[in-house]
Amino acid sequence: MDAEVSSQKRGPFLTDIEEIRRRGRQHIEKGAVTPGYRSDLKTVLRVLNEALATELVCVLRYKRHHYMAKGIHSQSVAAEFLEHAAEEQGHADQIAARIIQLGGQPDFSPERMLTRSHTEYVEGETLRDMIREDLVAERIAIESYTEIIHYLGDKDPTSRWIMEAILANEARHAEDMKALLQAIGQEEGQHVHRVAEVHAATTRNPDNGGNHSEAKRPK
Ligand SMILES: [Fe+2]
Ligand SMILES: [Fe+2]
Repeated sequence: MDAEVSSQKRGPFLTDIEEIRRRGRQHIEKGAVTPGYRSDLKTVLRVLNEALATELVCVLRYKRHHYMAKGIHSQSVAAEFLEHAAEEQGHADQIAARIIQLGGQPDFSPERMLTRSHTEYVEGETLRDMIREDLVAERIAIESYTEIIHYLGDKDPTSRWIMEAILANEARHAEDMKALLQAIGQEEGQHVHRVAEVHAATTRNPDNGGNHSEAKRPK
């Protein structure tokens, strides 16, 4: 298909570039929020702050689990918890930066964190409890971020892109926790190496992105 036919199929580019240039000069104090911003800014800032609280609670829960992991499988699992904590912190930073771009204020209040967060802070007694709680939290994050992405739709593509990249990471986290839970369930008390292998495999997997603190756009 040549370019002309392709462009006819898509239709003409609807916005006058002179109009875009004119609007770009208006309200420059608003930075990244241009007159073409089509979403409900107040709602977007609220849901992004909820996502921020969710991430911060996840950082704290994974950190707690990292330090409290005990028992025969604990070394590899604790390393996985620490890795996830660092990635959740990266997500929190990305969301906070987007809130600033949108002219809002990221809410880091410890008092409000638990009421805003979609996930819970559950300490768990055993290693198995901890992994299960982390899996539950990842599943909740996946559901709520999917809803946020649907809400953002094509009205705020930048926020949507950020949340989509984070969602892809949460899906991998859930898979990591599921694999650990299965490994512990199948071989608890017998084969420590199995858990170590799962951790090594998830760490080595190039799909995991290498630098986990920076969510990448899914291909
Ligand atoms: Fe996260
Ligand atoms: Fe996560």
